[in-house]
Amino acid sequence: MQALMEKLEAADVLVIAAPSYWADVPGIAKSFIDRCTAYSDTNPDPDGPRLKSDKRCYGIALRTGARPMECEHILGTIEHWCGHMGIDFAEGIYFCKIEGKSDIAPHKALLREKAGVWFTTDKRELSVQKFTRRT
Ligand SMILES: Cc1cc2nc3c(=O)[nH]c(=O)nc-3n(C[C@H](O)[C@H](O)[C@H](O)COP(=O)(O)O)c2cc1C
Repeated sequence: MQALMEKLEAADVLVIAAPSYWADVPGIAKSFIDRCTAYSDTNPDPDGPRLKSDKRCYGIALRTGARPMECEHILGTIEHWCGHMGIDFAEGIYFCKIEGKSDIAPHKALLREKAGVWFTTDKRELSVQKFTRRT
């Protein structure tokens, strides 16, 4: 866990991508979130470990089914985690009807474009866009 937190601490921008597994983030992502509790604002110890502020996070959710609700839920989970970790949730984007790699291929140009903005934009220029549906 400490190695992961060191990686998070070293980053200014986080991108968290999660497929829907049974309408939620995969178990391994949930385990990670659970184990962040000691590093979150719910740790009652004021001297407990905290990430430095001024980080921002982008979320990507995808699922095989067509309706957006599951993806919105997953982005909500990521946003909730950000809230307790002192990280700004800057934008979420989601894709439905994704069975495998070939279905995400048509969206690669958009993802590259997004990454270009996400990794270069100065925080002060950001206008928070909550969830964007792409398919
Ligand atoms: C265990 C498991 C559960 C899944 N549950 C859902 C689901 O509830 N709703 C859905 O739309 N897709 C579901 N899917 C499909 C995945 O969201 C989709 O195939 C995704 O592209 C898988 O990403 P991965 O190959 O990185 O695991 C599930 C896939 C797996 C393996």
